Amino acid sequence: MKSQTTPSWLEDAVFYEIYPQSFCDSNGDGIGDIPGIIDKLDYLKCLGINAVWLNPCFESPFSDAGYDVSDYYRVAQRYGTNDDLKRLFVEARKVGIRVLLDLVPGHTSIEHPWFKQSCKQARNEYSDWYIWTDSAWKWDVPGYRTVSGHSERDGSFVSNFFYFQPALNYGFANPDPAQPWQQPVNAPGPQAVRQEMRKIMAFWMDLGASGFRVDMAFSLVKGDPSHGETMRFWQEMRAWLNGKYPDACLVAEWGNPNLAIQGGFHVDFTLPFAFPGYSALLRKPYGSGPGQDPYGFSFFDPAGLGNVREFFDEYMQHYETTRGKGQIALMTGNHDITPRLSKGRTPGDMALVFLFLLTMPGTPFIYYGDEIGMNSLEGLPSKEGGYQRSGARTPMQWDDSANAGFSTAPAEQLYLPIDPDPERPTVFGQDWDPNSLLNTVRKLAFLRRKHTALCASADFELIYAQAGKYPLVYKRSWKDETALVLINPSSRPVSLNLPDMGKKGCDVLYGAADSLQFWGDSWQVRLAGVSGAVWRLQ
Ligand code: NOJ
Ligand code: CA
Repeated sequence: MKSQTTPSWLEDAVFYEIYPQSFCDSNGDGIGDIPGIIDKLDYLKCLGINAVWLNPCFESPFSDAGYDVSDYYRVAQRYGTNDDLKRLFVEARKVGIRVLLDLVPGHTSIEHPWFKQSCKQARNEYSDWYIWTDSAWKWDVPGYRTVSGHSERDGSFVSNFFYFQPALNYGFANPDPAQPWQQPVNAPGPQAVRQEMRKIMAFWMDLGASGFRVDMAFSLVKGDPSHGETMRFWQEMRAWLNGKYPDACLVAEWGNPNLAIQGGFHVDFTLPFAFPGYSALLRKPYGSGPGQDPYGFSFFDPAGLGNVREFFDEYMQHYETTRGKGQIALMTGNHDITPRLSKGRTPGDMALVFLFLLTMPGTPFIYYGDEIGMNSLEGLPSKEGGYQRSGARTPMQWDDSANAGFSTAPAEQLYLPIDPDPERPTVFGQDWDPNSLLNTVRKLAFLRRKHTALCASADFELIYAQAGKYPLVYKRSWKDETALVLINPSSRPVSLNLPDMGKKGCDVLYGAADSLQFWGDSWQVRLAGVSGAVWRLQ
């Protein structure tokens, strides 16, 4: 594809994901809101992050936590007003933070006025905005989930996720002539939907957004197994953004950086549902033991029984093909992933995960609360279509006051309950302690942003990453700066000799100051159990 412009701010971006329901409630109704986020901008600035991904904050019946939009142009009342969001954009930029919104282009809520029109028997402007079969009795369409009996219109609609999230019509890559209800991508309905999405993006960009995380970005064009037509759509969007909003950033929820970045995205995630290497790194069922899987543990478990190659074999393929074109995002977790990072891990274990995420190439994402090691709650009643995901969506724990400082509402009115553990981590409780997880994250975020060699596009070379072995060693470099990262998540001490890397001097930038020395003609690495360091080589 044609050369892509990339906003320079992405180079040192450290993202923070805010689930608005649970971050900070400014008006005591038990639900987080936008003025609450504005109140916490100083906290975010001092954390060292410089970009926020805000989960959907638009009008919605909230059957899927806002991923069921009923008005793309209006902030949900419970979060505030469009003016509040504009104020967030402005105030955040004043402290060096950009805000990305969550765009849900693939489906709306069944409450959306477009869909209600589309359900009508009489043809109208919105009849072809959604995907309908040509008979209410045609509901058994292989490869699709359809819902029948909902509308006066004689047809079943295709749903994208839960039943109440009807798929917007971007057309079919190869419409089946025997199924005339499958429209080509250039039919008027799909074209109108595409124009509308562009209008929505322009609306929020003009208000001050810095871009979008795009929900289920891979899902738009149907019957598109190679994703070619879906990629073409996003390439067009990217070309349009490059011209009109060159500073904007598009982050895909795709889970295949190779395809997403070819398709025009600046950034894509290593999502566990599509990228098994991520689980091998951080999310194998904790302590699942050998069993069928010779490496039943994640690499970042102190058992020291993980296999870092399960991650890197997959990662390096994507890294090589996307290098210089876009960024791979590594995250501590997100609102869909349970348990949280803290499950089965001590703060010391988690510090190494942050050391890794904040020194790797690409774009790191911190899920709110992971910087203090918040726990997931088990067995909660499902909230807003969260099911087991609800456990990783509980309110942020700020301090020791009522409701952990999240809200002044009575406890039973909170969006989700606060972690009842009397030892639950809080920002206040970690702020004073230089060795707390919170202060470690702060240190590492600022370290990354200070050293170009640690930023997104600086060179990356694996020095030691062996199947079933510890530690992990890699080199980052940019121009005349070279950094060496050493990580030993295993509880056992390790030592290792590394060949000459063309440098003989070193100074420690972070972590264990006795972990590296040049001796004879090689580098000697010695790491205590659960320890790591970043060195500058000279
Ligand atoms: C992915 C989102 O992250 C998730 O929370 C949502 O339920 C689905 N997409 C459907 O929009
Ligand atoms: Ca509120």
